[in-house]
Amino acid sequence: MAKRWTAPAPGPIDQWSFDEVEVAPPGSGEVTIRVRAAGVNPADAKHVASARPGAEFPVPIGYELSGEVSAVGPDAVGGSGHLQVGDEVVAFRVQGAYATEITVPARDVFAKPATLSHAEAANLLLAGTTAAEMIQVTRAAEGETVLLHAASGAVGVSLLQQARELGVRVIGTVGADAADSAERVRRYGGIPVAYGDGLRERVAEAADGAPIAAAWDAVGTDEAIDVSLALVSDRDRIVTIVDPERAKADGFLWIAGARPESARFRDIARARVLELAASGVLEVPVARTYPLAEAIDAVRFVMDGHPGGKVALLP
Ligand SMILES: NC(=O)c1ccc[n+]([C@@H]2O[C@H](COP(=O)([O-])OP(=O)(O)OC[C@H]3O[C@@H](n4cnc5c(N)ncnc54)[C@H](OP(=O)(O)O)[C@@H]3O)[C@@H](O)[C@H]2O)c1
Repeated sequence: MAKRWTAPAPGPIDQWSFDEVEVAPPGSGEVTIRVRAAGVNPADAKHVASARPGAEFPVPIGYELSGEVSAVGPDAVGGSGHLQVGDEVVAFRVQGAYATEITVPARDVFAKPATLSHAEAANLLLAGTTAAEMIQVTRAAEGETVLLHAASGAVGVSLLQQARELGVRVIGTVGADAADSAERVRRYGGIPVAYGDGLRERVAEAADGAPIAAAWDAVGTDEAIDVSLALVSDRDRIVTIVDPERAKADGFLWIAGARPESARFRDIARARVLELAASGVLEVPVARTYPLAEAIDAVRFVMDGHPGGKVALLP
């Protein structure tokens, strides 16, 4: 028997339940993984907060994990090659990563980069592939200066590192009182500026005469969006991952993993993001780990909006 978190019905996280479940043996094209760490993302709570088209409750929680293969089904080939019992792997995008053991399609399972711990690896791919898509849709290119809102967050930190690899200069917003956020932005190559009143002027000053070629929004506040619209002339080079309504009203880009075109891009981007981590270009700073049984506290900590790094659940 395994243990697994599920949302029984649409609603808040305190109604989630942690139950014993039978783990199905792997069928054709599937593998079973003993979970060593599950990544915690805001989407875990947001996606079950209300009824959504296509979501059938109860919904097993958690999209990404790191662990060891415990069984391999017939004809199961992983995303990065053949899999054997004992292999250290990551899996994304799966449904039900908040578990001790899970059976998933082998195509979503990849060799874990040796550079990362299980807690780090379990948090690499959701943020990493989102960041890769934000860069791609805004066509950010070497030598350009880009504005990044929520730069110290999980998506922000991945964007900073992927942008540095491309030679893109990033001005990243952080909390005015958050010295550790500013430090994290600097560590990954960005120029921190405080969000809040006067943001537009501070960004212009940090840009030092360079045009702001594009904007990446990972927070969705009106301030972030208004400043992006004021500073970036081409609306096709502004993207939000949080506020579809403003994107529609103001004619700029919105992407989300649940949209088919984003899912296709991110599936392909997994290999590249793993490669960047394996070669030491991409780090995943982890702020805290929690026992799997304390998932609700972990999600609450992330949903407060200032986790200061990623959070992993350890079975
Ligand atoms: N559409 C998609 O495909 C997609 C994919 C991934 C994530 N997301 C969404 O993107 C958002 C960020 O995710 P994440 O995992 O990066 O979150 P996270 O790690 O929890 O980071 C949140 C960040 O928001 C910043 N922040 C908080 N209040 C702010 C404000 N008023 N103005 C500017 N920044 C502020 C915080 O900075 P300080 O601590 O410095 O204040 C922190 O760095 C979430 O809403 C998530 O659901 C969407």
